[in-house]
Amino acid sequence: MNQHPAAPVIAIDGPSGSGKGTVSRRVAAALGWHFLDSGALYRILALASKQAQVEAADAERLRTLAAGLRIEFKPPVAAEEQILLNGRDVTQAVRSEECGKLASELAVIPQVRESLKNLQRSFCRAPGLVADGRDMGTVIFPDAGLKIYLTASPGERAQRRYNQLKEKGLNANLPALLRDIAARDARDQNRAVSPLKPAAEAVVLDTTGTDVEQVVATVLAMARSRLGLKTG
Ligand code: C5P
Repeated sequence: MNQHPAAPVIAIDGPSGSGKGTVSRRVAAALGWHFLDSGALYRILALASKQAQVEAADAERLRTLAAGLRIEFKPPVAAEEQILLNGRDVTQAVRSEECGKLASELAVIPQVRESLKNLQRSFCRAPGLVADGRDMGTVIFPDAGLKIYLTASPGERAQRRYNQLKEKGLNANLPALLRDIAARDARDQNRAVSPLKPAAEAVVLDTTGTDVEQVVATVLAMARSRLGLKTG
């Protein structure tokens, strides 16, 4: 597909808990660019489907539901932006493990992925976009000027997820998170449409044992050299 993005894009993909959300937000903030949390769109659709009692098997109704979502991301209240669905604050509900699991089940459905494509691309605006997801570099922004694939060991990713949930005052259980991460990795990597994998030109960064500041600095250095950006 020959796509002409309206603005430069940095695509940051990787599995659950790889730190891509935190890294992408910080890179976007450092550059003064827009930020797309594509996983949140799958989570919002999952929540909306639960509310509307639409089954995962009903791909056509899911497509209609996706087309009618009214989503707003409000500037960060704390570390993450507030999410409104049809005017209602769904920030907490969307971040639950249950919602993440349902999102990953819906994400295997080709019609669901197709129905969220244009919405994701609409986030690409000047001066630039940092896009966080599973298929940002492979499918949604194939012409992204910089593609990063962040990963970390399953044990470390489960521990990070545990810490994040606890910080937000949500329930967390480490062995259950580890099982869930393994199941979600398998589903994301083995689905027929847009499976999770590094883009051919992606830089793969294993962040096991690396602190977030270091990863952010590495990505900003790459943005400087590959996209010719001045990042201070
Ligand atoms: O990143 P996050 O955990 O919020 O994403 C929730 C789920 O949505 C993932 O497990 C994955 O199955 C799906 N997803 C996807 N493609 C994306 C972003 C998320 O399939 N670009």
